[in-house]
Amino acid sequence: MRKKTDKIVFENVEVLDAGAKGVSVAKAPDGKVIFIPNVVPGDVIDIQTFKKRKAYYEGKAIAFHKLSEDRIEPICEHFGACGGCKWQNMNYDKQLFYKNQEVYNNLKRIGKIELPEFEPILGSKEQFFYRNKMEFSFSNARWLTDDEIKSDAELVRENGLGFHIPKMWDKILDIKKCFLQPDPSNEIRNAIREFATANNMEFFNPREQSGFLRTLMIRTASTGELMIVIQFFKEDVAKRELLLNFLLEKFPNVTSLQYLINGKANDTIYDQEVICYHGRDHIIEEMEGLKFSINAKSFYQTNPEQAYELYKITRDFAGLTGEELVYDLYTGTGTIAQFVAKKAKKVIGVEAVPEAIADAKINAERNNITNCDFFVGDMKNVFNDEFIAQHGQPDIIITDPPRDGMHKDVVEQILKIAPKRVVYVSCNSATQARDLALMDEMYKVIRVRPVDMFPQTHHVENVVLLEKK
Ligand SMILES: C[S@@+](CC[C@H](N)C(=O)[O-])C[C@H]1O[C@@H](n2cnc3c(N)ncnc32)[C@H](O)[C@@H]1O
Repeated sequence: MRKKTDKIVFENVEVLDAGAKGVSVAKAPDGKVIFIPNVVPGDVIDIQTFKKRKAYYEGKAIAFHKLSEDRIEPICEHFGACGGCKWQNMNYDKQLFYKNQEVYNNLKRIGKIELPEFEPILGSKEQFFYRNKMEFSFSNARWLTDDEIKSDAELVRENGLGFHIPKMWDKILDIKKCFLQPDPSNEIRNAIREFATANNMEFFNPREQSGFLRTLMIRTASTGELMIVIQFFKEDVAKRELLLNFLLEKFPNVTSLQYLINGKANDTIYDQEVICYHGRDHIIEEMEGLKFSINAKSFYQTNPEQAYELYKITRDFAGLTGEELVYDLYTGTGTIAQFVAKKAKKVIGVEAVPEAIADAKINAERNNITNCDFFVGDMKNVFNDEFIAQHGQPDIIITDPPRDGMHKDVVEQILKIAPKRVVYVSCNSATQARDLALMDEMYKVIRVRPVDMFPQTHHVENVVLLEKK
C-alpha cells in the first residue's frame, strides 16, 4: 500500500487550470487533482508528487515537455523562491482571466445563486510597483536558494533583508530588487543592509531570539511622502542613532522616520510604542481631493490607484442620490464612508479596531466632512436593533468584510432591516458566495465586477450589487 508521503511521478501531464492560492492544477491518471506551483496552464510536464491526500496530490514539475503560450519570462530574479508574485510567469491577460474565473466559479458553485453577466474584470493600470507598503525582515543567515546550493560558488551564511520563504517563519530570502513598491523602496532596503553590515550591527536570529535589527517597513504615498519604520530587538542608543542618522543623511526627503524597540517573541508592532525620530508620525495620502493620514499602524489599501477604481465602482453600484442613509460596515479608517459622503445624506461607519476609527474621525475632520459618524466594535455585537433604532434604518449598506466574510449574525441583521440595496465588496469570493447564498431569499444579484488590486498574485477583489427582490 502506498504511504501518504510516497513520491509518484506522472509523465507528460498537461496543466489545465490555475487555481486558488496561486497554484496550478492538472489531472492524474487516477482522476485525482494535482496541485503544482510555478507552472502555467498549457505547460506539459512531468510531475513528482510530495503529498497525497484522499482527493488530491501536491507535486512539483520536474521536467517540461512543452511550454504554455501564456507563459512570459518573470522579470524578477527572486521569482520561484520568493512567494510574493506567484503568477509573474503568466501574461497579465491570462492572470485576469483566471481571477475572473475564480470569482465566477465560487459564486456559482458555493453560492449556487442566479447571476447576471459579469462586468469585465478591471485590471490594474500598474502591473508592477503598485504597492504603497512593504515589510521586510532581517536575518543573520539568509536563505540559500536551490540554484545557489547547486552552483559551484562558495556559500557563506550572510546577513539578509527581505521576505519570509512561504510557510517558513524563520527563513528569510534576501531581496536585491522587488518589483512591487516604487522607488526609493529598493534603494532604502539595500542601503540599510549594506550600512548595517559594514557597521557590525547584528541582524536578527528568530530561532535564538537574538540580534539587533528586526524588521523594516517602508510606506510610500502618491503625494510623494515617505515613511520608514525600523524595528529593533533591543536598545543600543549609539548604533540605533548611527543607523537612523545615516538614513536621514541619505534620504533627506523622508517625511516620517520612526522606530520601535520590540523584545517580544513576535514582531507585530500593533501592541508596541512606535517612536517618531524625525518629521511627522504620519504621511498623507490623497484620493479625489480627500486627504488621509496614515501612521505606522494604520490600515490603508495597499494599491492606492486601484483602490480609487474600486471605490468608484462601489459608489456607482450604491446609486446614491444625496438622500440616503448609508451604513459602511467594516469601514477601516473610513475611506469608503468619506468617499461616498458627498453623495449621501449621512454615512455611518462601523469597525472593530479603535485606532482605525480614531483615524477615520481625524480624517473626516481634516476633510471637512460633517455627515459621517464612526463607531467601534465587533460587528456582530454593535450592529444590533438598538444601534439601528439609534442611528436610523439604512437605505443602503456597503459592506467590506475581512477574508472570513460576514458573521452569520451580521447577515441576519442585514436581512432583518432589509435595506433596498447592499453593495458587497470582498477580497475572498468564496466567503462572499457563502454570504450571498444566505441572502438569496431576499436579494437578487444585479451587478458583479471583479477588480484586480494585486497583479502577479492570485488575489482578486469582487464588488457585488444586491437589490431587494
Ligand atoms: C477589508 S478591510 C476593509 C477596510 C475598508 N473598507 C477600506 O477600504 O479601507 C476589513 C475591515 O474589517 C475590520 N474587521 C474585521 N473583523 C471585524 C469585526 N468582527 N467587526 C468589525 N470590523 C471588523 C478590519 O479591522 C478591517 O478594517
